[in-house]
Amino acid sequence: MPDRPQPTVVLGVTGGIAAYKAVEVCRRLVEAGAHVVPVLTADARRFVGEATFSALASEPAQTELFGGPTPIPHTALGRAAEVVVVAPATADFLARYAAGLAGDLLGATLLATQAPVVVCPAMHTEMWEHPSVQENLATLVRRGVTVVPPGTGPLAAGDVGVGRLAEPEAIVEVVLGMLGAHGDLAGYAVAVSAGGTREPIDPVRHLSNRSSGKQGQALAHAALRRGAEVTLVTTVDPVLAPHPRLRVVRVSTAAEMEAAMGVEAEKADAIIMAAAVADFRPVTVADHKLTKDQGVPQLVLERTPDILAGLAARRRPGQVIVGFAAETDDPVARARAKRAAKGVDLMVVNDVSAPGVGFDHDTNAVTIVSASGEQEVPLSTKTVVADAVLDRVAELLAAGHRLTPEGH
Ligand code: PMT
Repeated sequence: MPDRPQPTVVLGVTGGIAAYKAVEVCRRLVEAGAHVVPVLTADARRFVGEATFSALASEPAQTELFGGPTPIPHTALGRAAEVVVVAPATADFLARYAAGLAGDLLGATLLATQAPVVVCPAMHTEMWEHPSVQENLATLVRRGVTVVPPGTGPLAAGDVGVGRLAEPEAIVEVVLGMLGAHGDLAGYAVAVSAGGTREPIDPVRHLSNRSSGKQGQALAHAALRRGAEVTLVTTVDPVLAPHPRLRVVRVSTAAEMEAAMGVEAEKADAIIMAAAVADFRPVTVADHKLTKDQGVPQLVLERTPDILAGLAARRRPGQVIVGFAAETDDPVARARAKRAAKGVDLMVVNDVSAPGVGFDHDTNAVTIVSASGEQEVPLSTKTVVADAVLDRVAELLAAGHRLTPEGH
């Protein structure tokens, strides 16, 4: 978050063994540029000392409602907070918060704040599944609290099951996404497509490609962090944490993706097609499984609709449209031609024959081709690539960009 005042995050820590992971949440938030103020309950201090948090956070950890340096600490914290995140959130804490109890500094701060609140439950499986915990969570969700659900894995005392605190990285991502209200894409709607389409042959087979959806998800993630309202139209279940500004639309075929993107295009300020849409599909889909004793089937294929070209042809004024191109030969020249042919603002080309680039990797290397020239992004994480693309999208949106029918 460079060049902006540091947003304040109040990090509430309650008394569960996962409190040690909150130290990592604190460190990562500070590293990402947030001003972090830890607030520890009495029980949290049974697990991790306040000195640990004070050493890593932006301010000393606070623990007391009375007798501290600030006369009314909960209102000061509540007003300063841009996000309050509670990790771990114990069953006891969730009950108190749902009941509106304000008997300690964290409880009082939560009632005194108007900032968005994120709770990250962690407890034993039996407690997590107890109806009272689920009802308290439902109450909090109804009031607008965001829940980062626990994962499944080893718990305290050698047990294994659901109830493990979400990974610090995932928690931080949700918080940074919320701070995105100050980002350069705040107020913009961004629609991203991800994954390879599946074109059915019969009830058990399909034609598809190697796209994992990682690049599209990285774009959605980064756009959330930068403040956008994001719709992810995807052929794979995303691994993104739930987020109030994220909507996920699951599709499978090119036709479904075309329909979903068409709906999104009516309100999107920017459209990014990172999906690998099949170029061909079987003309007919068998309604029963094709079997060997019927002989080798002769598949007759037809072209799928060009979703990107269709969206560009119907673009709304000021709408920014970005395509991705997966190439193996002469990538930049082919991307220039594709950008012009499809009439889009940016064509992001990856040479998918290069090591670590394109399909299924966690890394990518691209050239962003625009009417004014090319920008290379060397081999980096898909998040870095996503941010480089979004830098260009944000510039175009800020300039109220409008592509002419000639594509310039
Ligand atoms: O998903 P990952 O494993 O992370 O991999 C990322 C990726 C390699 C899939 C991604 O970086 C990428 O290159 N996506 C586009 C792949 C592709 O379909 O390229 P293309 O050159 O065939 O298509 C060009 C553009 O037209 C793309 O934006 C594509 O979404 C779009 N298209 C293509 C065909 C079609 N029928 N309709 C389309 O809209």
